Amino acid sequence: MEPADFYTGIVAESYAPLRSLDPDPEVHAAFIREVGGPALELGCGDGDPLLDLRRRGLDVEGVDSSADMLARCRRRADDAGVTVTLHHQRMEALDLPRRFRAIFLAGPTFNLLPDDDAAGAALEGIRRHLVDGGSALIPLHIPAPTPADRIGATRTATAADGARLRFTLVSEERNEAERTQISLLRYERHDRHEHHAQDASAVVERPWLLHWYTRDGFRALVAAAGLTTVSVTDSDGNPARDDADSTVFRLRADHHTPRPPTR
Ligand SMILES: C[S@@+](CC[C@H](N)C(=O)[O-])C[C@H]1O[C@@H](n2cnc3c(N)ncnc32)[C@H](O)[C@@H]1O
Repeated sequence: MEPADFYTGIVAESYAPLRSLDPDPEVHAAFIREVGGPALELGCGDGDPLLDLRRRGLDVEGVDSSADMLARCRRRADDAGVTVTLHHQRMEALDLPRRFRAIFLAGPTFNLLPDDDAAGAALEGIRRHLVDGGSALIPLHIPAPTPADRIGATRTATAADGARLRFTLVSEERNEAERTQISLLRYERHDRHEHHAQDASAVVERPWLLHWYTRDGFRALVAAAGLTTVSVTDSDGNPARDDADSTVFRLRADHHTPRPPTR
């Protein structure tokens, strides 16, 4: 399975019920109001904050690599009576008919790209899809190793239809040289009436890869893609401390600026 296909099947179904943190739509609404639309959310998943932004009347479209997450997003949009344009694509192979003033990710989904080459391709795609002077917001995270006593720990939640969902971090492997952490995650769904139904339970185990960047390393990838780093902030918008493990890169596309020579 490719990393971009991680969020499918019961993983897609478990995403909203198990989510620990809701993205704050106001941050992204303010960004779009400041730089103008149209806007594009990469890795929009099942629609947070995309659908809230659409409800506010903002011109924003979504891209995601998971058909299952997009199907959930479409259903939620229909239920809420909002229209939304969604594209089933990988952000490292972005090819859309429109150009945008604002492109953003609402969480550190860029860390799901498996290596620097994929990140470089995604940054190139962002540049190609921004109008001249357009802006991008990319949150990045450097994961900490999970404490040993949390390996094997299970979280539970209830699905929309009442089924029990279980999520377990089975193991974790870290490679500092490659800047990757691969966790083996187990997702389980147990129907409340499993003795009555067939196929009532499902269990999948999937490797979840995170790839992180040094601050200077990401600046170099941004420059190589022909984009300018405007600022690196913390999640409150203040300049990021050198040791911050969560940052937001704000980028700009200046199409008339000569690109650095390729190595
Ligand atoms: C952590 S979820 C965030 C979803 C949404 N923003 C939210 O908070 O509800 C990450 C999403 O990124 C998508 N994704 C992962 N890799 C991707 C890629 N290479 N290109 C596009 N989308 C990707 C996944 O399918 C998933 O829906």
